Amino acid sequence: MFRQLPAQYIEPLFRPPSEARSLIFQVTNGCSWNRCSYCEMYTDPQKKFRARPESEVLAEIRNCAEQGLTPRRVFLADGDALVLPMRRLRNILEEIRISLPTVNRVSSYCLPANLKRKSDDDLAELAALGLKIVYVGAESGDDEVLQKIDKGETHATTAEALLRARAAGIKTSVMILNGLGGRALSRQHALASARLANETQPDYLATLVLTFYKGRERFEAGFDNRFEELDTVGLCQEMKTFIGALQLENTIFRSDHASNHMVLKAVLGKDKQRLLQQIDQSIEYFKSHPEFDHGDFGY
Ligand SMILES: C[S@@+](CC[C@H](N)C(=O)[O-])C[C@H]1O[C@@H](n2cnc3c(N)ncnc32)[C@H](O)[C@@H]1O
Ligand code: SF4
Repeated sequence: MFRQLPAQYIEPLFRPPSEARSLIFQVTNGCSWNRCSYCEMYTDPQKKFRARPESEVLAEIRNCAEQGLTPRRVFLADGDALVLPMRRLRNILEEIRISLPTVNRVSSYCLPANLKRKSDDDLAELAALGLKIVYVGAESGDDEVLQKIDKGETHATTAEALLRARAAGIKTSVMILNGLGGRALSRQHALASARLANETQPDYLATLVLTFYKGRERFEAGFDNRFEELDTVGLCQEMKTFIGALQLENTIFRSDHASNHMVLKAVLGKDKQRLLQQIDQSIEYFKSHPEFDHGDFGY
């Protein structure tokens, strides 16, 4: 007989790979923006954005405590839980602190716009209440690309949010999408994304490769149906341009998401040369093994 899960979810439920062992509270359902043209995460009808009733969330946190759970980490789902107003976030974080005292890190996905509606004092308060890390899908530092994908953010708004989070004592984890500008915008996407990272010095940086499961019509329309997808060698070359332009002091870099062709792990800047060598080797390998071209992975 299975014990009933102490937390309830509306599926599908997503979390960053690094939150695999975290207890997840779905404090919102879906994404309040939900317009990014490449994103299929919250497009099912049951994922229409809604804040979960506060009483339900607080009861669920207490229920987990009553069932004897002693998590170290909590992830607040779904796509941008920090859209919740301060009063709600305060109540949730306080309940976690009181009911689940073993928790030493609370994290959440976050859009720059979520932070714009919060003051610096609000951010410092969230940090003091246990919010330790936000995962921000910058995707690109290039305004032309950001506009084509309908991200609703610019280089400047993303940089500002990342810097404000950092100043408040909240760690930042930034995602960049390899190949997002296609062939035409590849170089400017790589260079502007590196500039964004250099300006904001995130604690964590991850690259993912654009992957579609439900079709790409909406995405391609944003490029006037002229999007030319990069092949595997092109994706690696874009990574080389991106990594080559990075000037980071102490950022943990990963491109180990299932969507990547190259698994890269490093601390930047110290491992930059090693990383560039690894990318060069991958480029040589993929050039001589065209059978591994993008698209042959069953995406
Ligand atoms: C929940 S969002 C991150 C937090 C926040 N909603 C945002 O966009 O900033 C999850 C991330 O998954 C990645 N993602 C979404 N759709 C993708 C796709 N089709 N292919 C590859 N990565 C994708 C993007 O990097 C996106 O930022
Ligand atoms: S903001 Fe994040 S979750 Fe929402 S649509 Fe864009 S990528 Fe998807």
